[in-house]
Amino acid sequence: MDFDIRKDFPLLEKYPQLIYLDSACTSLKPRQVIDAQISYYTELGACGGRSSHFLGRKTSEKIEESREKILEFLGAKGQELIFAKNTTEGLNIVINGLDYSKRNKIVTTVIEHHAILLPLMKLRDDGKIKLEILMCDNEGKVSLEQWKNAIDKQTALVITNSANNTTGFNQNTKQITKIAHDNGALICVDGAQGVAHHKTEFSKDNYDFLCFSGHKMLGPNGIGGLVCKKENLQKLKPFVLGGGTVKTVTLDKVEYLTNHEKFEAGVQNYPGIIGLTSACEYLKKLKMENVEKYERELAKEMLDVLEQNDAIIYGSKTLENHSALFSFGIKGARAHDVALMLDQQNIAVRSGFFCAQPAMEAIGAKDGAVRASCYIYNTKEEIRKFSQALTKLKALY
Ligand code: ALA
Repeated sequence: MDFDIRKDFPLLEKYPQLIYLDSACTSLKPRQVIDAQISYYTELGACGGRSSHFLGRKTSEKIEESREKILEFLGAKGQELIFAKNTTEGLNIVINGLDYSKRNKIVTTVIEHHAILLPLMKLRDDGKIKLEILMCDNEGKVSLEQWKNAIDKQTALVITNSANNTTGFNQNTKQITKIAHDNGALICVDGAQGVAHHKTEFSKDNYDFLCFSGHKMLGPNGIGGLVCKKENLQKLKPFVLGGGTVKTVTLDKVEYLTNHEKFEAGVQNYPGIIGLTSACEYLKKLKMENVEKYERELAKEMLDVLEQNDAIIYGSKTLENHSALFSFGIKGARAHDVALMLDQQNIAVRSGFFCAQPAMEAIGAKDGAVRASCYIYNTKEEIRKFSQALTKLKALY
């Protein structure tokens, strides 16, 4: 990776000592993304899809152009993109929007984020679906055999992550998709961690739905989306209704729009959308293949450092299909204490359950863990400093 890119990140300039290892929670943003957001306020400033004055028209054009660019970045040209505030909102649109009257089973795993588990458990508890939650092994992995055994002709939806926010393991979602489709089920991929770090090929991999968040991929907070295979859009019912979603309304009858607009009620996050497009352009320029290659090197450094420091690693201890993200513990130390001690040495990590408590329990981290997660702006030198900090800290226990 070209380390000139560090100059693009104002926070790294403001805090030159900072070692930011919390990108799985939220990534830093390059100046280009920040400027793109400001450009909405300085050049457009109006509502899209509504006002016919020139600023309104320009805003609409910019947003539709953005939609196309984001779809192209995700390998989803010609499919539908619904803007949502984040992955969580996208997942909720899919989970709550499908019809379960003919097939009522949903298959997922224990190693998912609460954004999947909680809406599914609510539907189950309301008696609307049958939920099968696959257990994982002690490294957080679910085998293709388990998927094959669980997905059947009663399955309406399969829903799982492409890259895991607790273990860093990248699942073979392409194969899982095939199993789902062989049984006539739909698949929704939680791409919150995957889209930021791997090349996404929505159409080639034949996904039905993909949810992602801007803020984990160098983009703004509060914007993300749901990519939907064109033919699937009509299978979803919107659950937030309001302005911008209809053709006509009388007090007796509503005629909804039939495209993505049906799901984008209210005035949208235009600066966020423009910033997200800029993040996609930034990553496209770097090339996702290079991002992946560089992060594999960081993952190797990180694994070596954790092993050298006798850390308890939760999840897989090999680099195969592993992101540069590791959850770990230090024997005898509480996770939050480790995080605070690292913070005193300018190293930012996350500690706790990472919004995935059942997953953490399943991988043996029932009291939580510390998580170090890298992105393109991290360097091997930073990981060496992280190692020194761990060595000092370990000596205290
Ligand atoms: N759920 C996000 C994380 O993994 C915020 O940190």
